[in-house]
Amino acid sequence: MLQGRRIVVGVTGGIAAYKAVEVCRRLVDAGAHVVPVMTAGAERFLGRTTLSALCSEPVQTSLWNEVSPIPHTRLGQSADLVLVVPATARLLGAYAAGLSTDLLTNTLLATRAPVVVCPAMHTEMWEHPAVQHNMQVLRSRGVHVVEPDEGRLAGGDIGAGRLATPDRIVAVVEQLLGPHDMAGLRVVVTAGGTREPIDAVRVIANRSSGKQGYAIAAEALGRGADVTIVSTVELPVPIGAVVRSVETAAEMQAAMNELAPTADVVVMAAAVADFRPVDRAQGKLKKAAGPPQIVLEATPDILAALGAAKPAGQVLVGFAAETSDLVANAEAKLRRKNLDLIVANDVSAPGVGFQHDTNAVTLLCAGGDATTIELSDKRQVARAVLDSVCVIRNSPRGASPS
Ligand code: PMT
Repeated sequence: MLQGRRIVVGVTGGIAAYKAVEVCRRLVDAGAHVVPVMTAGAERFLGRTTLSALCSEPVQTSLWNEVSPIPHTRLGQSADLVLVVPATARLLGAYAAGLSTDLLTNTLLATRAPVVVCPAMHTEMWEHPAVQHNMQVLRSRGVHVVEPDEGRLAGGDIGAGRLATPDRIVAVVEQLLGPHDMAGLRVVVTAGGTREPIDAVRVIANRSSGKQGYAIAAEALGRGADVTIVSTVELPVPIGAVVRSVETAAEMQAAMNELAPTADVVVMAAAVADFRPVDRAQGKLKKAAGPPQIVLEATPDILAALGAAKPAGQVLVGFAAETSDLVANAEAKLRRKNLDLIVANDVSAPGVGFQHDTNAVTLLCAGGDATTIELSDKRQVARAVLDSVCVIRNSPRGASPS
């Protein structure tokens, strides 16, 4: 997503400085070249070594060094984006006033690249008219602001001013620098496992965590798509996504019947139960009554129905969770359900499929192309899936006919 993009990350002196480490790690994981700059204040909260080790270059702290004769302009001129995380009231004030007192403020004034600031400070400071005025000035100049969250602050206070989560910060960077090859596309992704009630408290469920579906949603958002997640789980919602919560296969089917007809891309990453109890017992079944006889019936095959009614031009993607004959079984599902792409995962392999942060998949296209993605982060798998979706959309044949 951020391959080859050069991001200057400025870290200023607040207690949230340690969270910049995680943000930098994620940007590097997404392929960015991260150049860290620390203010003198930041060095009181964070060791240079930590940040240098996780970024693409050693930390720079001073206007005066022997490496470059004009470092005060070089960093800003060569950046694709400058990110300040956390941004203290002092930094925001200096930037709004156009003061260039250190390497970071010089870099901010010497760049034409997009600038993202992530304020973090105590509630009283954040709400102070002077700080709010500076924010207004910066916003009016096109600076992107990742608003602070409400929550626990240093010293135990609770209120607005807590640094936004790394998820939110990285998502904003991705939306600004991502490839935008899905701009304006409507994408619907299902995530999680359905739960089919046995009685008032018991369900037939599966081990799907929703991580793979949410990773696809986050990737699509970063590439400019409008994304709806039809979800059975509660995970942090990627910024900009709309979530439709469902529980059973029937509820998921109803949501998909409503959303899929107008979608450009549909991805069924959810693990839908194949069977459900014919009857749901009223109340809670009593243990004293002995083991119940639970009669099951097949659930609707949501994906097969979507394949049968697929609108022209829509790219329909299914997943196949297999424990043997991965490719043969997945190919059969690809054809039977009229899909454009199926993502086959051998969920019996270590680190693959349900609940893990990683996955390993084979992507099979209706046109016959096959791509193997070795064990990687689910976000990287999501990237590969959407790369294939874009190739299918742009191919002369487009999506397979309905
Ligand atoms: O959620 P995670 O913990 O991150 O794990 C990810 C995952 C393992 C759930 C995901 O990678 C995955 O494999 N999802 C599909 C699981 C599945 O139900 O596979 P299947 O082979 O049984 O179904 C094939 C396809 O038909 C799937 O796209 C499924 O969503 C769909 N289906 C299945 C049954 C049914 N009644 N209706 C359906 O639409």
